[in-house]
Amino acid sequence: MSRWCGKVALITGASAGIGASISTKLVEDGLQVVGLARRSDKLQELASRLQNLPGKFHPIMADVTVEEDIMAAFTWVKTHLGTLHILVNNAGIAKPASLIDGPTEIFKKILDTNVLALTVTTREAVKLMRENGGEGHVVHVNSVAGHRVTDIPLMNVYFASKHAVTALAETLRLDLRREGSRIRVTSLSPGLVETDIIRCFDGNQQLAKVIEMAPKLHPEDIANAVSYVLETPPHVQVTELTIRPTGSL
Ligand SMILES: NC(=O)c1ccc[n+]([C@@H]2O[C@H](COP(=O)([O-])OP(=O)(O)OC[C@H]3O[C@@H](n4cnc5c(N)ncnc54)[C@H](OP(=O)(O)O)[C@@H]3O)[C@@H](O)[C@H]2O)c1
Repeated sequence: MSRWCGKVALITGASAGIGASISTKLVEDGLQVVGLARRSDKLQELASRLQNLPGKFHPIMADVTVEEDIMAAFTWVKTHLGTLHILVNNAGIAKPASLIDGPTEIFKKILDTNVLALTVTTREAVKLMRENGGEGHVVHVNSVAGHRVTDIPLMNVYFASKHAVTALAETLRLDLRREGSRIRVTSLSPGLVETDIIRCFDGNQQLAKVIEMAPKLHPEDIANAVSYVLETPPHVQVTELTIRPTGSL
């Protein structure tokens, strides 16, 4: 990771779970990490915990479904850190809702957070990466649900949102290839990870039980995978990395 020491990374959804873990790992590796999330208390706690490490964590309160928040965060990055080398699109939500009779507002919230926000951050990040000579890496925290639909009820729109992430990773890679860019794109697809997002089934005892019994990864496993894809040499592009807990279906 020494190649990335002192470089700038922006991570969405840095206040908890996988995003907090990726932020920690990159600050340990000496990067300047800008972490976005809505819960500023959680971001501040993380900033305090990461204080004496080689890199630095810069918390920015932002709702990624609000374009002005994203634009303000990118302006802050440009003004204070000059440029951006790594973008990790990690912020995501999973809310159970039936496609047949569920509320539009939940469908919209999932798509705004998991898909639309990622398109805006990616566009802004690529602009900055182009300015610094095209050195950069975009990582989308996707899911196994972005590749295959399984028989889990009420997850229709979540599955669709992650399938969109798969398409957006590949089409970005093709766009960048067309313009001869050196920016790399990785879709990282975890199976079940022990984080708050999996509590979205708590209202459904049967599903909550299935989730509780299932083998799970730790957020650190995904942070280690981010380090792995970053530290491969510049001519190597890990386009898709699936990480499942041992013993999972
Ligand atoms: N855990 C799993 O089993 C699993 C498996 C595959 C893929 N994933 C993916 O991994 C990613 C991270 O999820 P996680 O498991 O770490 O869940 P988590 O612990 O619930 O963390 C979600 C993060 O996203 C942030 N976030 C949500 N909505 C946001 C918004 N509107 N604006 C800014 N930040 C927002 C949250 O911060 P605030 O609430 O503070 O805003 C939080 O930091 C997601 O994309 C998820 O789909 C998770």
